[in-house]
Amino acid sequence: MARKKVILAYSGGLDTSVAVPWFNEKYDVDVVTMTVDLGMVDLETIRQRALKVGAAKALTVDGREALVNEFLFPALQAGAIYEEQYPLATALGRPLIARCLVEAARAEGAYAVAHGCTGKGNDQVRLDVGVTALAPELKVIAPVREWGMSRQDEIEYARAHNLPINPKASRFSVDENLWGRSVEAGELEDPWQEPPEEAYAWTRPVSAAPDEPAYVEVHFEQGIPTAVDGEAMTGVDLVRHLNSVAGAHGVGRIDHVENRLVGIKSREVYESPAAVVLHVAHKALETLTLSKDQVRTKARIAQEYADVVYNGLWYTHHRTDLDAYVRHTQRFVTGDVRVRLHKGTCAVAGRKSPSALYQHGLATYDRGDQFDHTAAVGFISIYGLPVRTQNQAQRE
Ligand code: ARG
Repeated sequence: MARKKVILAYSGGLDTSVAVPWFNEKYDVDVVTMTVDLGMVDLETIRQRALKVGAAKALTVDGREALVNEFLFPALQAGAIYEEQYPLATALGRPLIARCLVEAARAEGAYAVAHGCTGKGNDQVRLDVGVTALAPELKVIAPVREWGMSRQDEIEYARAHNLPINPKASRFSVDENLWGRSVEAGELEDPWQEPPEEAYAWTRPVSAAPDEPAYVEVHFEQGIPTAVDGEAMTGVDLVRHLNSVAGAHGVGRIDHVENRLVGIKSREVYESPAAVVLHVAHKALETLTLSKDQVRTKARIAQEYADVVYNGLWYTHHRTDLDAYVRHTQRFVTGDVRVRLHKGTCAVAGRKSPSALYQHGLATYDRGDQFDHTAAVGFISIYGLPVRTQNQAQRE
């Protein structure tokens, strides 16, 4: 009889590499690894490694386009930034990985899926809840939650099993995709200590950033960025391009003490150059094209949307309801924003839109003013009426 199969989300790192022989021994199952490219990995190298550590089969998926179009850009349109700091790179990648796990499990006839998350992070929640939403019949196994091995134990296990991996000397735990790089552990665990330069990889320190600013012009169509400096690009290329341009100017470093879903505070450092530029630019275009009420209601939705993403609730009706609102708000968010990148800062330099609500004739103090100044008198008389009434009737 054929052995049962489990699909393991495989990154090629120590945890998931140790998990392959561990599964073979402990569960007596065939391990099929599944690696998703979210923009930062060499799929073939990882695939080869999966087979070397004992996977029965190694699957790979190019998830870049889906990540950008189905997760990153909707979150951008929503203005989703967790606790006003974190653009949610890791959090937005997880539901896509969950979906790929489920698709692979169905294609391979697996009874379970597995991942290398620990028992104290947010990612286990995002993957477990994501999988259970999409495929309630699938079992989810998280070896790291079960095996009780320390990192040192894992390294010894890897040696004893002749696994061809040499665990990186890096003292940090890093997760990355197109939307950003998340770095934690090591000395970052002391929130008083400034992050060392080695924690960063995508961004230059301000001291090494060019003295001359760079200007970047982003074009949006209904809230989706479609071109930079007049050049139309796919979402994937556009995000990669902005990561490199803005990163070179030191833009996108974020140092955040955040509230995890499991109740603890953790200090994490992020690098998200493209996400920072795009959020700044997108918001600037909205100030021009949305009404005051729309902007304010949308800001509340943005916070809710960010919590939903952070808390692993992507595959919920609540999220799709929020998305419906957000998407509808974007129908006139078309135009261009010019930002200045300089020494770690990203500032809006200009914005324009064919649907702008900003009307020069109404705003100007120069000749050509179309605003009816005399109408202000009657407006203020009625607007101030309750204030006047109360202060007359109830002197304090
Ligand atoms: N704290 C971030 C989140 O929950 C990132 C988690 C992964 N970080 C890491 N360095 N491995 O979304």
